Amino acid sequence: MHHEQLSLALWALIFIRTSETCTSRTHINAVEGEPFYLKYCSSPGPEDEATTIRWYRSNRAHERVELNPGSSPRITLEDYVLEFWPVELDDGGSYFLQMGNYTQEWKLNIIRRNKHSCFTEKQVTSRIVEVNKFLEITCENSYYQRLNSSISLYKNCTKILESNENPSIKKNAVFEDQGFYSCVFSVPHNGKLFNVTKTFNITVVKGHSNIVPVVLGPKLTHVEVELGKDVQLNCSALLNKNDVVYWSFEKENGSDPNVHEQNKTRNWTSEGKFYASKLLRIENISEDNLNFLYNCTVAGNGGTDTNSFILVKKADMADIPGHVFTRGMIIAAVILVAVVCLVVVGVFYRVDLVLFYRHLMGRDETLTDGKTYDAFVSYLKDCRPENGEEYTFAVEILPRVLEKHFGYKLCIFERDVMPGRAVVDEIHSLIEKSRRLIIVLSKSYMSNEVRYELESGLHEALVERKIKIILIEFTPVGDFTFLPQSLTLLKSHRVLKWKADKSLSYNSRFWKNLLYLMPAKTFNPGRDESEILPVLSKP
Ligand SMILES: *[C@@H]1O[C@H](CO)[C@@H](O)[C@H](O)[C@H]1NC(C)=O
Ligand SMILES: *[C@@H]1O[C@H](CO)[C@@H](O)[C@H](O)[C@H]1NC(C)=O
Ligand SMILES: *[C@@H]1O[C@H](CO)[C@@H](O)[C@H](O)[C@H]1NC(C)=O
Ligand SMILES: *[C@@H]1O[C@H](CO)[C@@H](O)[C@H](O)[C@H]1NC(C)=O
Ligand SMILES: *[C@@H]1O[C@H](CO)[C@@H](O)[C@H](O)[C@H]1NC(C)=O
Ligand SMILES: *[C@@H]1O[C@H](CO)[C@@H](O)[C@H](O)[C@H]1NC(C)=O
Ligand SMILES: *[C@@H]1O[C@H](CO)[C@@H](O)[C@H](O)[C@H]1NC(C)=O
Ligand SMILES: *[C@@H]1O[C@H](CO)[C@@H](O)[C@H](O)[C@H]1NC(C)=O
Ligand SMILES: *[C@@H]1O[C@H](CO)[C@@H](O)[C@H](O)[C@H]1NC(C)=O
Ligand SMILES: *[C@@H]1O[C@H](CO)[C@@H](O)[C@H](O)[C@H]1NC(C)=O
Ligand SMILES: *[C@@H]1O[C@H](CO)[C@@H](O)[C@H](O)[C@H]1NC(C)=O
Repeated sequence: MHHEQLSLALWALIFIRTSETCTSRTHINAVEGEPFYLKYCSSPGPEDEATTIRWYRSNRAHERVELNPGSSPRITLEDYVLEFWPVELDDGGSYFLQMGNYTQEWKLNIIRRNKHSCFTEKQVTSRIVEVNKFLEITCENSYYQRLNSSISLYKNCTKILESNENPSIKKNAVFEDQGFYSCVFSVPHNGKLFNVTKTFNITVVKGHSNIVPVVLGPKLTHVEVELGKDVQLNCSALLNKNDVVYWSFEKENGSDPNVHEQNKTRNWTSEGKFYASKLLRIENISEDNLNFLYNCTVAGNGGTDTNSFILVKKADMADIPGHVFTRGMIIAAVILVAVVCLVVVGVFYRVDLVLFYRHLMGRDETLTDGKTYDAFVSYLKDCRPENGEEYTFAVEILPRVLEKHFGYKLCIFERDVMPGRAVVDEIHSLIEKSRRLIIVLSKSYMSNEVRYELESGLHEALVERKIKIILIEFTPVGDFTFLPQSLTLLKSHRVLKWKADKSLSYNSRFWKNLLYLMPAKTFNPGRDESEILPVLSKP
């Protein structure tokens, strides 16, 4: 058994003994200002029952003076026990208990209290604990505890525990546990509180057992470096005090002047082992430093351990990730902007795109539906001076553009209907043979004459869904309340506004929108036509 282990066991024993309530030691230290007692240890035998017990104290002249309850307000006598509430400096000296012709003597030494600390250094119990070994500190004083005292445990005069039971610490010791632990029993007596302090001086020492030294970190570390730059390799090891850490590598042509091994730094761990780290500094890295092993080894009685480092050239693309990231962000942003632009363009130029697409694909919706006309043109047929332009538009401009330039086939009543047949039947069958119904709207449109065309067309459009209606607002109409309710069910973009000054060119929005609403048809527009229509007289 080690010497220290022995002393530990001894201390445990003393701990147990501190709970004893009688005073067996003859030389006793007490701290000024604290309650104190002397108690005779032998239990009274039957023959002692009758004997009177007397307490004496020797004065300066070494004469015995009997103590009685009136001697001092701080002293209480109770058969086998002499109590001080509290003990003071001038209480030092010899005390005697006399029982028949038997006498017991105690020598009392009073220690001046340290007024600047919660405990008095001269009155501490020192213990040495090996790190990682069990540490137990328990506050116990059965004599004063029976007096309803409250107990606090202080570490370096900072309260860490408080309870009416026995505050205790039970743990494996670490270095941070070192310090002074004071158990303070706060004892009530005659309406006053008195402190009884017991302080342990705990010292934590490193263990004796050796560990197997290890180099911390992975066995092989690839370190990315740039040529011409410096690098520091950090080797850390967990080791015993006398173990060594060193760097080793093949020195091809003597020592490499660019490689510097730096001093070892060492620190205790809280478990009493050493951490050591040793740096290897490689300056102005050249090709020679690459792709070979720099070994860091720790060696001692417990064994050896080696970790290796290898320098690899940072790939040119290796630092790209940042760039890749920004590049990716830029690309994503560009794509986003492009998509937004496309959507915006698509919304604004939907008509142009559709027309372009039709042209590109050569789509033709007119081949298979068995209809004769692309559109039936409905207009006010009275040629009066106030609607003369409308008439010209319907009968001359529409056919010129749609038929001659864009290759559609229109049905214009005045031109295409043989006279003589029943007008109503004829109109109905013509509308049935048409793919669109173009209505040239004006204020006076809703005359009886055209009413039937409109109603027939609406029936086809809304009920039979065989024809689509295109409204051309030739002169500003304002409100459409004069039209049948069912017309309002048509989509608003099917209403085209004719603007005499802007709608003249074939490329104008008006004609494009009209073409968009007309069925897709393949036709090569006549190049001979002038791009500009004959100007209508402006209103
Ligand atoms: C103590 O006193 C008793 C009588 O009171 C006597 O018998 C005895 O011998 C004495 N003992 C000593 C050690 O003097
Ligand atoms: C505490 O214990 C340590 C180790 O035994 C000792 O060196 C130190 O002097 C002690 N301190 C006091 C105040 O007793
Ligand atoms: C301790 O306190 C309890 C109540 O809290 C009381 O009954 C008892 O008498 C007290 N004992 C002493 C010794 O003061
Ligand atoms: C307590 O005091 C001792 C001695 O002064 C010291 O070694 C220890 O580190 C201190 N502990 C704390 C937690 O302050
Ligand atoms: C007892 O100890 C406490 C805490 O350290 C302190 O506040 C109090 O003043 C002390 N009482 C006496 C009588 O010393
Ligand atoms: C080396 O590593 C150890 C443990 O990881 C660390 O404590 C130390 O500060 C490091 N040294 C340097 C110079 O980075
Ligand atoms: C470095 O360590 C590796 C693996 O432990 C070993 O193979 C190699 O010989 C060592 N090199 C030097 C120069 O010590
Ligand atoms: C020094 O190293 C180079 C290659 O690194 C080798 O060719 C040359 O022989 C070495 N010189 C000596 C003196 O070893
Ligand atoms: C290493 O320690 C020695 C003395 O032990 C000292 O002269 C030298 O300057 C130290 N080197 C570094 C890099 O700290
Ligand atoms: C060792 O501990 C000291 C302070 O206790 C600290 O300054 C130093 O950085 C530590 N060294 C290592 C290698 O951990
Ligand atoms: C680094 O090394 C290269 C050759 O390996 C040498 O030409 C250059 O001068 C060195 N630079 C420094 C700062 O030492």
